[in-house]
Amino acid sequence: MSLLIRNGRVVTATDDYRADLFVEDEKVSLIGAQLDLEADQVIDASGKLVIPGGVDPHTHMDMPFGGTTSADDFESGTHAAAFGGTTSIIDFAIQIKGRSTLEALETWHGKATGKASIDYGFHMIVTDMEDERLWEMRRLAEEGVTSYKMFMAYPGVLYVDDGTLFRAMRKAGEDGTLVCMHAENGIVIDEIVKLALKRGETSPKHHALTRPTRMEAEGVHRSIAIAEVAGVPVYIVHLSCSDALEQVTLARNRGALVFAETCPQYLFLDIGHYDQAGFEGAKYVMTPPLRERWNQDELWRGLRFGDLQSIATDHCPFCFKDQKALGIKDFSKIPNGAPGVENRMSLVYNGGVVAGRISVNRFVELTSTAAAKLFGLFPRKGTIAVGSDADIVIFDPNRKETISAANPCTHHMRVDYNAYEGMAVQGFSETVISRGKVIVKDNEWLGQPGAGNFIKRALFSGPD
Ligand code: URP
Ligand code: ZN
Ligand code: ZN
Repeated sequence: MSLLIRNGRVVTATDDYRADLFVEDEKVSLIGAQLDLEADQVIDASGKLVIPGGVDPHTHMDMPFGGTTSADDFESGTHAAAFGGTTSIIDFAIQIKGRSTLEALETWHGKATGKASIDYGFHMIVTDMEDERLWEMRRLAEEGVTSYKMFMAYPGVLYVDDGTLFRAMRKAGEDGTLVCMHAENGIVIDEIVKLALKRGETSPKHHALTRPTRMEAEGVHRSIAIAEVAGVPVYIVHLSCSDALEQVTLARNRGALVFAETCPQYLFLDIGHYDQAGFEGAKYVMTPPLRERWNQDELWRGLRFGDLQSIATDHCPFCFKDQKALGIKDFSKIPNGAPGVENRMSLVYNGGVVAGRISVNRFVELTSTAAAKLFGLFPRKGTIAVGSDADIVIFDPNRKETISAANPCTHHMRVDYNAYEGMAVQGFSETVISRGKVIVKDNEWLGQPGAGNFIKRALFSGPD
């Protein structure tokens, strides 16, 4: 099966030129001006950008959390991701405390196999790491799971103490892998939450008020310091605020191997969203919480000048009606997380490129290339080059849409609200190709559950 994409403007993290692309056997095999070739399928991309498919390194499909399970499984979540121009995700397998991480990997393979319609990888969430179990980490790396996530938040659930953190970090460093950190001082935050609840402060807004930016910054500082001593590169996930970014910048300036992502919710939504009427604010209960609006300029500064490398979604949807409602009387019982995997590319293009904050190359880098490089997928994913997987998006830079749960072009996620409801965006993923197969065209689904492959990722290969 061959595919010829004609007349597009090919944009990667570094290039921007007009060319035709020829795809054979799932890979890009030829790039050139006006290729004189025939193909089984020809797409005219005149007036469109031809970009590498999005790589979202932070999703939670079918994740047990907060007494329930995230509303998208690997079938519905990857389907929605594809509609939004994302062709690879890295999701999180979770070790059950006291049990094997290899068993957790099996469980997550079971959740994704036969369901995912785009390629995927796994990070491993480590919830404990006794000496006797350290050997498993090398095995995970051999299985293509070359990054971990550890939590300084959620005591009693996913939280690990600093000793565990150090032990796992040392081994991860020895093995050449990368550690992702949920950096918030969960122990102090839990105390603040208890005080708030005692005062009768139970509404969703108190989720944000009980998680000060200082406690995120402290977690970032501490996790970086421990990682430096342990000798492992560290990637701060879902960085939400200026306070925390300052710690990343300081560390990078002294040469520490520190990387960080932010997410669309921290770039486009703010603490004011918790003031919506009734219980509506629960839609935005995520961790870290939405921050004061001025932080957004600082995050954009970080994205422009390189202290932040990537924009992931932390897609973790819970339905408003029957899942968020678990915390109607107590904000601390609202399942933490929000949907977003489908809207990332349009949001970042609109808020970044159209708004004049970043170049179109940087847009590709932030939504695809950087994550592919950091997480061992590059150059198979994250770029358009001869030999790369033909994960390609034909992106209309002029098409306008209003994001809404009611708009069939912007919402395929299995959740009853959209966090960006009513937001007008310019820039839309029109045709989406996964390993050479067109899976979305003109809002029509042509993909297949199970067509997505598990991708064994390479070891961490150093900063760019
Ligand atoms: O609120 C969030 N972020 N939910 C997902 C779990 C996590 O901490 O990433
Ligand atoms: Zn987290
Ligand atoms: Zn997350």
